[in-house]
Amino acid sequence: MMRTLVTTLWSLLLLQTPSSAFQCSVESVQHFLPAGSTALRALSLPDNLSFSDPSEVAYPGITSALPALCLLTINVTSSRSSSYRFGLFLSEVWNGRFAAVGNGGLAGGINWPSMGTMAKYGFAVVSTDTGHNGTSSDGTFALNGNETITDNAYRAMHGSVEHAKAIVQEHYGRNISYSYYSGCSTGGRQGLVELQKYPEDFDGVLVGAPAWESTKIAAFFVQMGVINLPKTSDHHIPPSLYPLIQAEAIQQCDGVDGVEDGVISDPQACHFRAETLLCTPGSNTSTCLTDPQINTLHLLYGHYFDVARPLFYYALPPGSEAGWSALLPSDAPLSLGTNAFAYVQLQDPNWDWRELNISIIVEKDATGDRSGIPEDFDIRPFADHELLPYKTSRTFYEAVYRNISSQDVAYTVDDFYRLFYVPGMLHCSEDLGRNIYGVPGFEDANHDAVLALMHWVEKGEAPKWITATKFVNESIDLGVRRQRKLCPYPKTARLVGDDVHDAGSWEC
Ligand SMILES: *[C@@H]1O[C@H](CO)[C@@H](O)[C@H](O)[C@H]1NC(C)=O
Ligand SMILES: *[C@@H]1O[C@H](CO)[C@@H](O)[C@H](O)[C@H]1NC(C)=O
Ligand SMILES: *[C@@H]1O[C@H](CO)[C@@H](O)[C@H](O)[C@H]1NC(C)=O
Ligand SMILES: *[C@@H]1O[C@H](CO)[C@@H](O)[C@H](O)[C@H]1NC(C)=O
Ligand SMILES: *[C@@H]1O[C@H](CO)[C@@H](O)[C@H](O)[C@H]1NC(C)=O
Ligand SMILES: *[C@@H]1O[C@H](CO)[C@@H](O)[C@H](O)[C@H]1NC(C)=O
Ligand SMILES: *[C@@H]1O[C@H](CO)[C@@H](O)[C@H](O)[C@H]1NC(C)=O
Ligand SMILES: *[C@@H]1O[C@H](CO)[C@@H](O)[C@H](O)[C@H]1NC(C)=O
Ligand SMILES: *[C@@H]1O[C@H](CO)[C@@H](O)[C@H](O)[C@H]1NC(C)=O
Repeated sequence: MMRTLVTTLWSLLLLQTPSSAFQCSVESVQHFLPAGSTALRALSLPDNLSFSDPSEVAYPGITSALPALCLLTINVTSSRSSSYRFGLFLSEVWNGRFAAVGNGGLAGGINWPSMGTMAKYGFAVVSTDTGHNGTSSDGTFALNGNETITDNAYRAMHGSVEHAKAIVQEHYGRNISYSYYSGCSTGGRQGLVELQKYPEDFDGVLVGAPAWESTKIAAFFVQMGVINLPKTSDHHIPPSLYPLIQAEAIQQCDGVDGVEDGVISDPQACHFRAETLLCTPGSNTSTCLTDPQINTLHLLYGHYFDVARPLFYYALPPGSEAGWSALLPSDAPLSLGTNAFAYVQLQDPNWDWRELNISIIVEKDATGDRSGIPEDFDIRPFADHELLPYKTSRTFYEAVYRNISSQDVAYTVDDFYRLFYVPGMLHCSEDLGRNIYGVPGFEDANHDAVLALMHWVEKGEAPKWITATKFVNESIDLGVRRQRKLCPYPKTARLVGDDVHDAGSWEC
């Protein structure tokens, strides 16, 4: 994509109506699909309808208030023994742009709900099922062999994007002006793989909390779970105590960043003392922790590990406790981790998490399948596009920074890649309700990461910050609770005004 197109006002590109070359019917679509592709479904949906597909076991959710659109499902043969499906939303009122959305966990399925979000901006949107059908924690697809693993790693995404772009241009009778990607977690990994392997697929990539080191992450989930198990042991911390620990973490760590606002903005800088939670004789054990439980906390926070039990990956930061009921279930490690390790890494469905040991973790990290891991940090081919991860990916950022800085190029990493941390946010989602997209009331490039990315790509103006918005009790109707500037890493937000809830009080 030529940078000279960047000055086009995107508002002028909005609201194009299609001069469709095909009817929204299976026969009509099939007519121009290449060999090996089959149209499975075509539905013409009028304005403001809801859509859901319960057979999509990973994404059965309802998307409401869709714009009028043509919905397609296409099946593509990817090898002699594998195939994938993708779904496409072709809005009647098109903004001239294309978007792909990612998946989550090990999910095999078309992510219709995320597609709905992007369709509301006016994009033509694609999502791939990644070549298998299963829930987010179902790793059985990995037993179907290399071709299925390759589809899941990157082939289904790239193929879906290529096929979908051709259909979009055929449908609207004109070229796509800009192409974008948005995904979180596994969706983040998929975005990073795409821009490394196929830098021409997108002009801008929005990556959230990328689960990119997949061999490590599977073992990490199991290791963290194992620390707090078995349930019958005296070191086990029941989930009912997680809120108590969270309150203590906020108490000790909130102010470390200089501002007491109920948000831990610098977990690394906090030296959390778990001992303050220690039970004293006669105290009620549902309001304190025993000595063996305190030991578990130290292991979870990575304060100490010994040679016999080394910490393999990152520890949990103080402030993560609100996510523990999902991450550290009380009976077994997170099934996503166990299944990813058993099926994808070990290819052994009978593997028992109680057998986890550091040798096998290290061995699998070294010898496991890395085809889905985005570890080519020389991303110069993408450097005239933009990448905008909005959560944890410091390792990735630093590796790219190191690589690009060592190259003889006339630009800096900051010119095309910015990382924004979101203090106080958990993993990927804060559900505001299914009709909601973007930032209601603040539909602009300063508040909405999708619009910020578009603004950067199309007008050449990089985001100096993004204003994060928190609604009271996650309800739009209750109004804004607080707003704050998120700064591009390594900058952090500093309080310069009086009202901590006002974005204007913060500076990068
Ligand atoms: C969309 O549908 C919902 C419920 O079906 C209805 O309440 C709402 O008024 C509709 N909106 C428009 C703009 O027609
Ligand atoms: C996925 O598999 C489930 C059974 O686990 C089945 O009910 C469902 O119809 C399948 N979905 C698709 C899209 O094939
Ligand atoms: C997709 O095509 C493959 C052949 O490549 C076939 O085995 C598979 O059943 C098809 N899937 C659907 C859902 O029709
Ligand atoms: C798996 O398949 C891909 C693409 O077909 C190929 O490039 C790769 O070498 C294969 N890997 C193994 C381990 O067979
Ligand atoms: C689309 O772009 C191609 C290559 O840039 C160009 O040759 C073609 O004329 C364009 N098509 C339309 C319909 O604008
Ligand atoms: C211990 O504390 C819990 C939670 O505050 C309370 O429900 C319970 O009744 C207390 N038990 C005793 C024996 O005081
Ligand atoms: C570690 O686990 C693997 C896989 O279960 C097993 O084959 C191996 O014997 C174990 N090693 C040790 C040292 O326990
Ligand atoms: C940059 O990445 C390339 C390709 O992955 C690699 O060959 C090179 O060694 C890297 N350079 C540095 C300084 O890490
Ligand atoms: C928000 O939720 C909290 C906790 O459930 C409740 O106490 C509070 O009243 C709610 N606030 C509003 C404005 O509804």
